Amino acid sequence: MVAYVDKNFSLACFLVLLLFVDSSYARFNMLVTKDQIHTICTKQDINSSYCFQVLNANPEIARLDFPSLFKFVLNYQAQNISDTLKQFKLSGGYTPGVESQYSLCIKLYGWAFDNRDSILRYLAAKDYNSVSTMIGGTLEDMFTCTDDLSTMKPVPQFFMTESNLIKELSKILAVILECFISKRKEFCN
Ligand SMILES: *[C@@H]1O[C@H](CO)[C@@H](O)[C@H](O)[C@H]1NC(C)=O
Ligand SMILES: *[C@@H]1O[C@H](CO)[C@@H](O)[C@H](O)[C@H]1NC(C)=O
Repeated sequence: MVAYVDKNFSLACFLVLLLFVDSSYARFNMLVTKDQIHTICTKQDINSSYCFQVLNANPEIARLDFPSLFKFVLNYQAQNISDTLKQFKLSGGYTPGVESQYSLCIKLYGWAFDNRDSILRYLAAKDYNSVSTMIGGTLEDMFTCTDDLSTMKPVPQFFMTESNLIKELSKILAVILECFISKRKEFCN
């Protein structure tokens, strides 16, 4: 009887231990590490100083897994898009339906902002091709906007800088997606 209890007890201990080891292993595996932030921010074509500025300045990132990190950057970007969109409307003397200096960028920023919801839906559905396409869409919207801004005299430097930083966030999103979520190594160099 004693032997029986002992055996059951140690089996239970073993199972609990296994469960614990297993889940802590999974947690360590999933949470974003400093090394991985370093990997993301030192990829070719990424503005490292800006990337570290965004990712290191936020202590909560240490508690995130990759899909949550992706959403964090996506929301950060959407916030910047919406803030800058407000500035465009204020400084262009914007009235709905009336052409203004910044009409094209205002339209593009509106689309870029709307992309967030579609991206979240595709991410939840694990449709990574569509997530990737939408990230590229935002990047393209920003390029079209800066192309337009660069023809103005004088070039509105504030909006150029903001749009370029929003482009950077799209590139960071693409790296997180391809290297750590969809893990398509052919797109992650
Ligand atoms: C990188 O981002 C910083 C802002 O953190 C900016 O001042 C700098 O001009 C950017 N560099 C390039 C090459 O875009
Ligand atoms: C982007 O948004 C974050 C927080 O939402 C803010 O702290 C940061 O200053 C913004 N950056 C730019 C370039 O607008």
